[in-house]
Amino acid sequence: MKGLENKRVFISGGCGDIGRAVAARFLAADAKVILGDLLKSEDGWNRAKSLHSSHALYVPCDVTSAASIEAACSFTERELKGIDVAICCAGMVANEPFVQITEENWMRTLDVNLTGSLRVAQAAARLMMKNPRDEGKRRGVVIFTGSWVQAMPWPEGGSYCASKAGQEMLMKVMAQELAPHGITCNIVAPGIVYAGLSRSIYDRDALFRQRADQTIPLGRLCSAEEVAGAFLYLASLDGAYVTGSSIVIDGGASLVKRNT
Ligand SMILES: NC(=O)c1ccc[n+]([C@@H]2O[C@H](COP(=O)([O-])OP(=O)(O)OC[C@H]3O[C@@H](n4cnc5c(N)ncnc54)[C@H](O)[C@@H]3O)[C@@H](O)[C@H]2O)c1
Repeated sequence: MKGLENKRVFISGGCGDIGRAVAARFLAADAKVILGDLLKSEDGWNRAKSLHSSHALYVPCDVTSAASIEAACSFTERELKGIDVAICCAGMVANEPFVQITEENWMRTLDVNLTGSLRVAQAAARLMMKNPRDEGKRRGVVIFTGSWVQAMPWPEGGSYCASKAGQEMLMKVMAQELAPHGITCNIVAPGIVYAGLSRSIYDRDALFRQRADQTIPLGRLCSAEEVAGAFLYLASLDGAYVTGSSIVIDGGASLVKRNT
């Protein structure tokens, strides 16, 4: 894909499974990547260095804190002189039956998955507005990590589904407002990935496993690597005219009516 060389990419939640898979693909395309995450500095730097000795950097970044995001943006400006692509990948899940959803889990899920994406996108967009337009007439690219459940209910997923659905509408409003500034906004919405948040639930929870297995027409969970390419497409020259869209990569899960 063209137009990724030397792009300055910031990934919140970049040390997670999907974040690292996305980072690895951008690095292979000669982009420069900063991973922002909750890890201690040394652990985060080790993750970054395992991806690339010089083009992958780490900065501590808690998306629930505007101050932490500002500090991460200052680091990005200092190290890379700006930001071209902001990827919001930080996420959490706390599945629980609707009547047992705790206010604490609800608030925390919305804070990380929805408000966290707002905070990162806002800080990044302010920086992107300073960029000259690229070959695709863009000043910047914002990509949220959504989920197929942003548009489909999943049992016991009230907080998570609501956070991702809210994120989808936020992305559309941003896409409309930021288009005149040359900033595109989109979502990559994975299905059930055998990695990160879902892998441990799939391995330990028999009912989740049964539901997942009967939900996916392609008959298997996907890998983090299988969703990574869509992020590159949206950031590349090929994706320059795409804004306000979700690319759903769910093996057909959204097509299926489940019984459990
Ligand atoms: N795994 C799946 O099946 C799946 C499916 C659809 C969407 N997603 C989304 O993909 C994204 C990545 O998830 P993953 O599956 O790779 O899980 P993961 O747990 O491997 O990665 C999530 C990362 O987010 C970080 N994080 C959590 N809270 C944070 C905070 N407050 N500030 C900064 N970073 C924070 C974690 O430290 C972790 O590195 C999430 O947004 C998730 O909702 C995952």
